[in-house]
Amino acid sequence: MTTSLELQAIRKQYGAVQALGGVDLSVAPGSRTAIVGPSGSGKTTLLRIIAGFEAPDAGRVTLGGRQLADGPDAVPAHERGIGYVPQDGALFPHLTIEGNVGFGLPRNTPKRAERIAELMDMVALDTAMLARRPHELSGGQQQRVALARALAQRPRLMLLDEPFSALDTGLRASTRKAVAQLLGAAGITTILVTHDQAEALSFADQVAVMRGGLLVQAGRPLDLYLRPRDAAVAGFLGDSIVLPAQLAGGWADCALGRIAVNDPARQGAAQIMLRPEQLQVAEVPVETAAHGSQADGCYGAVTDTDFGGSVCVLSVRLLRQAASVGDGADSPLLVHSTGMHAPAPGAMVRITVAGQAHVFAG
Ligand SMILES: Nc1ncnc2c1ncn2[C@@H]1O[C@H](COP(=O)(O)OP(=O)(O)OP(=O)(O)O)[C@@H](O)[C@H]1O
Ligand SMILES: [Mg+2]
Repeated sequence: MTTSLELQAIRKQYGAVQALGGVDLSVAPGSRTAIVGPSGSGKTTLLRIIAGFEAPDAGRVTLGGRQLADGPDAVPAHERGIGYVPQDGALFPHLTIEGNVGFGLPRNTPKRAERIAELMDMVALDTAMLARRPHELSGGQQQRVALARALAQRPRLMLLDEPFSALDTGLRASTRKAVAQLLGAAGITTILVTHDQAEALSFADQVAVMRGGLLVQAGRPLDLYLRPRDAAVAGFLGDSIVLPAQLAGGWADCALGRIAVNDPARQGAAQIMLRPEQLQVAEVPVETAAHGSQADGCYGAVTDTDFGGSVCVLSVRLLRQAASVGDGADSPLLVHSTGMHAPAPGAMVRITVAGQAHVFAG
């Protein structure tokens, strides 16, 4: 199976709107890529160009060595062997669920009914629903029918535009796992667009971040999470703490004291980033906070708590700060604590940092 996808300098303009401003992306055979980015950044446009529902103004799309588009000169969608689950599901309202799932299966497909039942099973839907029509299903069930319909055609490449967005958290995680397994077992190369950062990080071998019609960074999930290119990319992949700092000899002086950094060569003023799970908080008596030294971590007062179940987010106002850290460090720091043992507002805490801070490119 050599179904690698190559996008080269893809551009698309709608009137005055530049939806894509020159996107390059490589997707390895059998791999899973997640595309994330703000609303309007061009994610759906990119998928539609890969699927063949739009032609690029310029740029090339190649799948498994075959050129599918070179600017406006494009192979029609139905000749591409690409499965596409659009953002809204787009089921045929006048067909039953059976009609929808079986849409791409020729009438004379051997064991057609069994195949449809198997597809329903794959997306965890009861075959009792086959006689219903789309409006008689919930939003999440409709999304799964759309997925079954796309799977029916055994595509080489599967494009999923936020396919799990209407599912509740539990079902979402289990469906995502089942779909990932299914696509992996069938060796189907997959591109998933999602707004859910945890989904992107757990589903994909490669995460691509789009912004304003451009692909700003692509890489392995862990690399992007720990070494994002800028604060906006960092924020897209999870909560982050961004602080101004002074760097010297592999260390940063910042509002949290002295922290090791992942770019020992950098010197002088820079922005550094930590993930909230790198910060540990421990409640301390008020006197300890008043007399503690910077060497054993830094101290602060909890000003607010936001209980979210397993995690409680604490707003902490730091007590003392090094003079060199500059502005931007006065806003409260958001620190994660376990929900069950979170300090209450008014408590004093000591904050210690684990691991290295990431330094943003200057
Ligand atoms: N057919 C169209 N005609 C005109 N403008 C369009 C068309 N399709 C998309 N656009 C514009 O192109 C830009 C990119 O749209 P796109 O649908 O690709 O964004 P997206 O990243 O999928 O956003 P979302 O996360 O909200 O789904 C937007 O500014 C959008 O308004
Ligand atoms: Mg979209």
